Amino acid sequence: MKERDYLFEQFRVDRGCLGYVVADPESRSAAIIDPELEMVEPMLNYVFEHGLRPAYVIDTHTHADHVSGARALKSKTTAKIVMHEKAPASCVDIRVEDGDRLRLGELPIKFIHTPGHAKDLISVMLPGRILSADALLIGSCGRTDLPNGNAVRQYHTLYYIYRALPDELLVYPGHDYNGREHSTLKEEKETNPKMLFDTEEEFVEYMERENPGKLTPVYHLADALKANMV
Ligand SMILES: [Fe+2]
Repeated sequence: MKERDYLFEQFRVDRGCLGYVVADPESRSAAIIDPELEMVEPMLNYVFEHGLRPAYVIDTHTHADHVSGARALKSKTTAKIVMHEKAPASCVDIRVEDGDRLRLGELPIKFIHTPGHAKDLISVMLPGRILSADALLIGSCGRTDLPNGNAVRQYHTLYYIYRALPDELLVYPGHDYNGREHSTLKEEKETNPKMLFDTEEEFVEYMERENPGKLTPVYHLADALKANMV
């Protein structure tokens, strides 16, 4: 199956959060990925308009900066919530680990454990695409200074896991602040400054000490974490 052979839709809210709906065109079986609370309505409209049956709601990690719409979607559909096995939330129905797969009819979904921004972060592989969540952003990567972040793990994720994946993969991140929809892994490997550090030590030093000072503070951190861990 190629990237043009299945339904794929990106959803965006003002703060730059990105969510996705993917579906197998034959069986109409769908997965909803990283629904931010404000995306729930538009995502359900899309599902209804396209005659889809949501089988899974996948949260790529325990979000610290916004409230997940996964619980709202679970209550409005028959979809099961999918998260990494380390995710603290008790509403999770299916816990996956590195290399696990699920299927939507003929459409395969593979999970890769890519921690660093969060301990329980999974990237989602689809034919021709990777949904990189906050493990790899366009021209950057997710911060590692929030609870459950770890700069050494993030280095491993970028320099060993992502560098080893094929160049032609289309990269669809969990956030984008510059209005871009996607990038390619080739572009990120060649131009993303977070993928171009010479040593692990320099990367870790930057992520732990220099980066936090340049980032905007996260408002409602405790509230978002609490809501997403239920
Ligand atoms: Fe995040």
